[in-house]
Amino acid sequence: EMTRVWHVHPEQPDRAVLVEAARILRRGGLVAFPTETVYGLGADATSSRAVQGIFRAKGRPPDNPLIVHFAGARDLPSLPPAGGRLAAAFWPGPLTLVVPRMSARAGDTALAPEVSCGLDTVAVRVPDHPVARTLIEQAGVPLAAPSANLSGRPSPTTADHVLADLDGRIDAVVDAGPTRVGLESTVVDLTVDPPALLRPGGISLEELRRVLPRTCVAEPASGPARSPGIRHRHYAPRARLVLVEGADRNAPAELKRLVRRLRGAGLRVGALLTADLARIDLGADLVKSMGSRTDLEAVATGLYAGLRAVDEAGVDVILVEGDFPVTGMGRAIRDRLARAAEALPGLPPRSGV
Ligand code: TXA
Ligand code: MG
Repeated sequence: EMTRVWHVHPEQPDRAVLVEAARILRRGGLVAFPTETVYGLGADATSSRAVQGIFRAKGRPPDNPLIVHFAGARDLPSLPPAGGRLAAAFWPGPLTLVVPRMSARAGDTALAPEVSCGLDTVAVRVPDHPVARTLIEQAGVPLAAPSANLSGRPSPTTADHVLADLDGRIDAVVDAGPTRVGLESTVVDLTVDPPALLRPGGISLEELRRVLPRTCVAEPASGPARSPGIRHRHYAPRARLVLVEGADRNAPAELKRLVRRLRGAGLRVGALLTADLARIDLGADLVKSMGSRTDLEAVATGLYAGLRAVDEAGVDVILVEGDFPVTGMGRAIRDRLARAAEALPGLPPRSGV
């Protein structure tokens, strides 16, 4: 099976391309497209068969529900009051709301049960990207769209990342260049009181609390997982990922020692570090800069591309600076790195390095 690739301008996409992409979607096909966060793998959210195709193409665990994307908030007339306030403040934008299933429909048509994996809730969002918006409008149905990566891999921020994972497994990809935010949307559960942050992302907790001051942070460890996807390993490159501290003034000396030890054990070592540390010769096989420590937005934008690039160099271990402040985008960056760094089966535990 061939995956078609269309290149479009991110601000003024060629309409004919999106009409053709929408036709594939209406027939139950799978089309990857850019949003402001990451590339999504779209399917008609009202078609069980189409949605099942997403799970197959990604190798996605069947208990991890999908986000349904709408062209505008007006397509979701019965959001709960708190949802209406968040929508007014942040849509279109990188925010996903978990709401009762009955408050989200596609006109007179129900959403496919598969988007919710048996839960009585559904995750909805209105993306802020001309390609995404026009594609949903042209399809005439909301689009279920997880990140367009193989399950367990970092989310794609370019069409090349999508193809690296899914070429031959999906019908088409609309390439509109790299995405702006670089990390996924913030997920907020509005079916509980107070509202709970399930996944930090493009809208910060501080911003959410300006609208809903009682928003709390869901404890992933406590009780049954409310966001089932949180149980699965995520965002991980193939190489072993080790989080290191970069803020401390002893960081360069400690990193040099760690690199020497790992290389002495016969391992190829890559490093993804903020600019000041990336400039120092640490003796690693490959070093990539994450940009300035003081610009968390830029670090987020380049994070997944950086992980993929170091990983593709074929290193055994990737040292990644992980001690970012827990404010703004820092919370989401730390969350993704912590998930990616969980020990892989068959590898020694992290403390062993
Ligand atoms: O930025 C994004 O959100 C991207 C772009 C493509 O929109 N999409 C994305 O989708 O990241 P995905 O499938 O990779 O992540 C969806 C997250 C998962 O953690 C999933 O468990 C959670 O949303 N989720 C979906 N439906 C849910 C529900 N009904 N209740 C709780 N969590 C839900
Ligand atoms: Mg994902």
